[in-house]
Amino acid sequence: MLELKLEALILTIEQIPTLPDTSTEIMALIDDESTSIDTITQFIERDQALALQILKYANSPFYGAIRTVSSIKNAIVVIGLNEVKSLLLAFTIQKFFATSGKDKENRKKFWKHSLVCSHIANYLSRSFQLQADSSIFISALIHDIGKIVADQYLHAEFQAIVQHVEENHSTFNDAEREILGLTHYQIGAKLLEQWSFPEQVIAQVFYHHAPWLDKKYREGSTIIYLANILTKIAGYSCLNEEKQIEVEQFIKSKAMKLVNESGFKIDGDRIKQLLENIEDLLAEDKGLL
Ligand SMILES: [Fe+2]
Ligand SMILES: [Fe+2]
Repeated sequence: MLELKLEALILTIEQIPTLPDTSTEIMALIDDESTSIDTITQFIERDQALALQILKYANSPFYGAIRTVSSIKNAIVVIGLNEVKSLLLAFTIQKFFATSGKDKENRKKFWKHSLVCSHIANYLSRSFQLQADSSIFISALIHDIGKIVADQYLHAEFQAIVQHVEENHSTFNDAEREILGLTHYQIGAKLLEQWSFPEQVIAQVFYHHAPWLDKKYREGSTIIYLANILTKIAGYSCLNEEKQIEVEQFIKSKAMKLVNESGFKIDGDRIKQLLENIEDLLAEDKGLL
């Protein structure tokens, strides 16, 4: 029975169309190392809504700009060229999975979770002095894309998952396993594979709930993992129904132990300090996110 369900599920994912032409254009821009700031500026300025999203992102306290960033060119300098390309891709995906009606609020919350997570992932990368790696940024932006796929293409099952989370105070992953037999990180990774995303991004999305299992890109996966947890602790979950995580509880968790044992050294004090800084930055954010 479950096997049949899984097959149907895989087929559903396989039938998701490729991203529209604009994103192929963005993908080409991303692949082309020589893409200049001017080319990207022109691309963004063609679309007012997109331009506004980029400016909002650049004005986040996470970048600490002293003056308001009001031109796209400046926004690219503040955010970074590769990161802007990743943002463009994420915004295209957001548009691709756009929804209307009462689900709109949930979708907004979902993207807020993703945006905050990308800021925090960047912040953590800097804090741990990791080498600049734009795959971390894009992975943070789309780490939960599997949830959107489930919501959009398996809506009834997705509602049942949400209800299961609510009623049993279970984790999202457990509810997904129970109802679908597949989790959002598996669905997300499958879709990204289909869309020919880089291997590292697929791995980081796949392992964002258990980075210690990632043999190849463990450091990046751990950053996404921690960023996701801190995003939730700071109050930016994907869904209202999700169980709140407390910092003390996380520090004492088995997961924290596994992170350390896998070679990523981080203790409770460091987590608390990071969280404090992150919450200060988020508090300054005055509705930009
Ligand atoms: Fe997740
Ligand atoms: Fe998440």
